[in-house]
Amino acid sequence: MSSPRPITLPTNIGVRIAGVGAALPDKVLTNFDLEKLMDTSDEWIVQRTGIRERRVHEPEKGQTASYHGARALDAALKDASLTIDDLDLLVVATMTPEMPTPSVSSLMADHLGAGAIGAFDICAGCCGFVFSMNVAHDLIKTGRYKNVGVIGSDCLTKFADYSTYGRSTAILFGDAAAGVVLQATDNPSQGLLAQAMHSDGGRAKHLFIPVAKTDFFEQDDYDERKLGAVQMNGPAVFKFAVTTFPNLIEETLTKAGLSADDVDHFVCHQSNARILAAARDRFGLPEDKLLINIDHYGNTVAASVPLVLDELKKAGRVHEGQKIMFLAFGAGLTWGSSLWQL
Ligand code: UT7
Repeated sequence: MSSPRPITLPTNIGVRIAGVGAALPDKVLTNFDLEKLMDTSDEWIVQRTGIRERRVHEPEKGQTASYHGARALDAALKDASLTIDDLDLLVVATMTPEMPTPSVSSLMADHLGAGAIGAFDICAGCCGFVFSMNVAHDLIKTGRYKNVGVIGSDCLTKFADYSTYGRSTAILFGDAAAGVVLQATDNPSQGLLAQAMHSDGGRAKHLFIPVAKTDFFEQDDYDERKLGAVQMNGPAVFKFAVTTFPNLIEETLTKAGLSADDVDHFVCHQSNARILAAARDRFGLPEDKLLINIDHYGNTVAASVPLVLDELKKAGRVHEGQKIMFLAFGAGLTWGSSLWQL
C-alpha cells in the first residue's frame, strides 16, 4: 500500500458552533409508570441511576429518529440564523435508523427540503455525536464545507423490554434528538483544541442488540426473550465507564496542554448520575461545570451530549471565548472526546 500523499490544510479557517437545537417527544414515561409495567420502584431507579422520567417516541404518530432529528436540525438552524438552503452537509449520529437503509440523515434532509446536499450517518453508539463533531470539524477545516449540521438522534426505547425480565436495562433509556450547526469562520483559533476517538470490539458483548440467535457472543447467554432488546452487562459497563471517563478527560487535557480549571464546561454523555458524580469528584469540579440532566431524560444515546449543550445554551451559559469538552462512552465499546475553543 502506498503512503498517503501529504496534504496542507488551510490554516486560516476556524470552526464555530453557530447554532444549537433539540427536539423531544411529548410523551413522558415516569418511574411510577414503569412500576406498573415491571417489578421496580422509583426509589431503586433514582438511587442507582438518578433518572426520574424519560421521553419516549410514538411510532404510531410517525415519530422516528429522522422525524425528531429534523425538528432538532430546524431548531439549530434557527438558532444560527440560517435556513436549510445554507446547509451544505449533514452528519447524523444514530444507532436507531428507521431501517438499515436509507440513512436517517437522507430522510432528515428530505423532511426539511434540503435538496441534494451530502448526508450520511455515523453509528458509534452513545459516542456518535462526539465522533461526528470531530469528523465534521475537520471537513470544514479543509475548506471544502461551510455550514455542516451535526445531529444526534435516537429512539432506543423501541428496543426496550419493559417487563421484569428486561428491567435492569429498559429503565435507563429515553428518546431525543439534538445537535448543532458548525460553520467556517475566518478566526483560526476557533474550533478543536484536541480530540480522541477509541473503540474496543473485544468488549462489544457488554452492550448489544441481538436480532438473531447467531448474534450472541456466548451461546450460553441465549434466551429468545433477548431478541430485539438491548442487552447490557450493567456492572461491566459501569466499571468501564468510571475508569474510562476520568482517563479520557486526562488524555484530552494533556493533548491540549490544559488543566481542568481551563475548561468552562464538561458536556458529558448522561448514562448514570453516579458515573458523572464520580468524574466530578475526581477532578474537584464544581457542580455547574458538569451539568447532569439525566433526571428528566434518561440515557438518550447519541442525543445525550448535545441535549446538555442545548440546555446550557438556553440558560445563557455558553459564550464565545469559552472552552467546552464533549465526552461520551458507550456501545462498541467506544469512548471519545472533543475539546472546543468557542
Ligand atoms: O450509554 C450506555 C452506557 N451504560 C451505562 O453506563 C450503564 C452502566 N451501568 C449501570 O448504570 C448500572 O449497572 C445499572 C443501573 C444498569 C444497574 O445497577 P447495578 O447497581 O449495577 O445493579 P445490578 O445489575 O448489579 O443489580 C442489582 C440488583 C439485582 O438483584 P439481586 O440479584 O441483587 O437480588 C437486580 O435484579 O438489582 C436488581 N435490579 C432491579 N431492581 C429493581 C435490576 N434492575 C432493577 C430494577 N428495579 N429496574
